[in-house]
Amino acid sequence: MSKADKTILVFGATGQQGGSVAKALRSAGWRVRAFVRNPDNANAKALAATGIELARGDLADSQSINDAMAGIHGVFSVQPSSGQGAAYGVTDEDEVRYGTAVADIALKNGVRHFVYSSTGAAGPDKTGMGHFDSKSEIEAHVRGLDMVHTIVRPSAFMEILMLPGMGLDKGEFTFFMHADQQMQFIAVEDIGKIVAGIFSEPERYSSRTIEIASDAVTGKDLATKFSAVAARTIGYRRFPDSLLEQNPFLGTLAKLADDGRLTGNADIAALHEAFPGLLTFDQWLEGAGRDALLAAINATGDTVSLR
Ligand SMILES: NC(=O)c1ccc[n+]([C@@H]2O[C@H](COP(=O)([O-])OP(=O)(O)OC[C@H]3O[C@@H](n4cnc5c(N)ncnc54)[C@H](OP(=O)(O)O)[C@@H]3O)[C@@H](O)[C@H]2O)c1
Repeated sequence: MSKADKTILVFGATGQQGGSVAKALRSAGWRVRAFVRNPDNANAKALAATGIELARGDLADSQSINDAMAGIHGVFSVQPSSGQGAAYGVTDEDEVRYGTAVADIALKNGVRHFVYSSTGAAGPDKTGMGHFDSKSEIEAHVRGLDMVHTIVRPSAFMEILMLPGMGLDKGEFTFFMHADQQMQFIAVEDIGKIVAGIFSEPERYSSRTIEIASDAVTGKDLATKFSAVAARTIGYRRFPDSLLEQNPFLGTLAKLADDGRLTGNADIAALHEAFPGLLTFDQWLEGAGRDALLAAINATGDTVSLR
């Protein structure tokens, strides 16, 4: 059977990661079924317009997950973020329950290749961030199942740099790494390219856990790059210690940047070789990132919202 006869079920397809994966799988010639809560919403309709089949369901409803798995070859599993800043009111326990249920139901349905998207900071040691540790727990569960699987751990998305509250509108960008410290990033669209590549070579990627990122930049690099696009000076400094002390969420993330788990350890050169076409930070900033940066500079906002 060729790709055109095999269907991959994609979770979160109306969102960032799932949307990127659904699009890349379609471009690579797979049949795609998207698991959506509301087939009538604009994002779901846009998926359907590209030939993607819609399966209505909810992660809280195991029967709907099971129904969506009928005749499926592969599954891309991602859950909405949990905890502070999460848009969906999902608790850390919900995220674990959803992620383990999708994997168990995939196993029961004889799925041939299961790809779970975790996060770069996941691993054997607790991070103290609920929405990272939930992913470590799901990873361990997936690894324990007798099913061909691959786990990807995306680094921070380039897109999160444009969220409100990090000073772009005030001419000084603030983030977690120190000015001379590198942090790895990935453009959301590249997650799809990598996952589509993984589905096309199951033997090569079976039972592997792969950190994924496409570039690494320092705080100073960001200042230089943002200033060039904005045609005005934008400085960089790390979030001030006073803020990190007051705000345990940001403080814990800063500690994870210090110990390297947030800044990332992906083998970027190997990823560019294995998955041609991944975007450098400059390429992203010349394309989709440019408008996002200019909008962030012209916006007003004072809350930090990171997932
Ligand atoms: N931000 C980062 O830098 C970063 C880095 C690594 C990993 N992550 C992780 O990436 C994951 C999510 O990624 P994202 O940004 O792609 O998500 P997103 O854009 O927020 O989209 C969430 C998706 O989940 C769906 N959804 C929400 N509740 C659901 C439910 N009960 N049942 C079924 N579907 C449901 C939404 O569908 P509807 O259309 O129905 O709302 C939407 O498609 C999170 O776990 C996050 O922690 C983030």
